[in-house]
Amino acid sequence: MMKHFLDIHTTSKDDLRSIIDQAHAMKSARKDRPKGAADDSQPLAGRMVALIFEKPSTRTRVSFDVGVRQMGGQTMVLSGSEMQLGHGETIADTARVLSRYVDLIMIRTFEEATLQEMAEYADVPVINGLTNRTHPCQIMADVMTFEEHRGPIAGKKTVWVGDGNNVCASVAHAAGQFGFDFTFTGPPQLDPEAEALDFARAQGVQVAIERDPVKAVQGADLVFADTWVSMHDPQSAKERRHNQLRGYQVNEELMSHAKPDSLFMHCLPAHREDEVTSAVMDGPHSVIWDEAENRLHAQKAVMRHCLGL
Ligand code: CP
Ligand code: NVA
Repeated sequence: MMKHFLDIHTTSKDDLRSIIDQAHAMKSARKDRPKGAADDSQPLAGRMVALIFEKPSTRTRVSFDVGVRQMGGQTMVLSGSEMQLGHGETIADTARVLSRYVDLIMIRTFEEATLQEMAEYADVPVINGLTNRTHPCQIMADVMTFEEHRGPIAGKKTVWVGDGNNVCASVAHAAGQFGFDFTFTGPPQLDPEAEALDFARAQGVQVAIERDPVKAVQGADLVFADTWVSMHDPQSAKERRHNQLRGYQVNEELMSHAKPDSLFMHCLPAHREDEVTSAVMDGPHSVIWDEAENRLHAQKAVMRHCLGL
């Protein structure tokens, strides 16, 4: 049965668990293989996947493309501005047409409404590759990465430091779905959407906002940072954001207040010495390269889930 993968909070807990379990299994089955080698099982043989980007991307673009090929499928990478989509054709009409050519659509876009409209009118599964509001594929990789290093994430304390942005919202959704606690620390102007925090609270996990970053990270098992200015933010916001967030840099001093075995994650791309120092990115708490690799494995499992394969 076809299923979209639009968000963490709109995917059932059972489905999220089975996607992560499959991602772990598929990763270990490929151990020590060259990146271009085919998987033993080829569930996407004969399938065509469209990868649409209305914003830049390195990880999402390459990991989806490689993942489809490892599973025996083919991809076409499309830029929104070069499609009629960027010149007035409606999302609904684009969805109807693409559904006649491809078996799966991944889209990175601006407005969440674009993603929703694509999903409503497509006859094939649609995957959210980031919107202004959320980034669910990233957080599937993050949960997988935590489990690899530290075992179950349920009951752990996670702390988001900085801007309460799209990636932050998906972490809050994941807190509710996977049962871990979530603290946000940042200035009040950049708080996460109340809806995401309310979702997590409603699932029974601890959710807090703590303005003091040192207090926030105390007892943390996992600390997240992300860019201070996202792709959808106006560049004119840059100077103001830097002034607002200066006290929220993740550096060695701040990490020293988290648990000694705490992990540090960043979805990347990072701005070294702004939201995080190189000493933390390249230091003992950091698992950012495993996190980036796991985009590949997690998304392969997401695609199989969507296609029921
Ligand atoms: N983390 C992430 O989604 O990276 P890209 O913008 O490079 O895809
Ligand atoms: N918050 C960032 C994430 C990039 C992967 C952005 O939206 O630009």
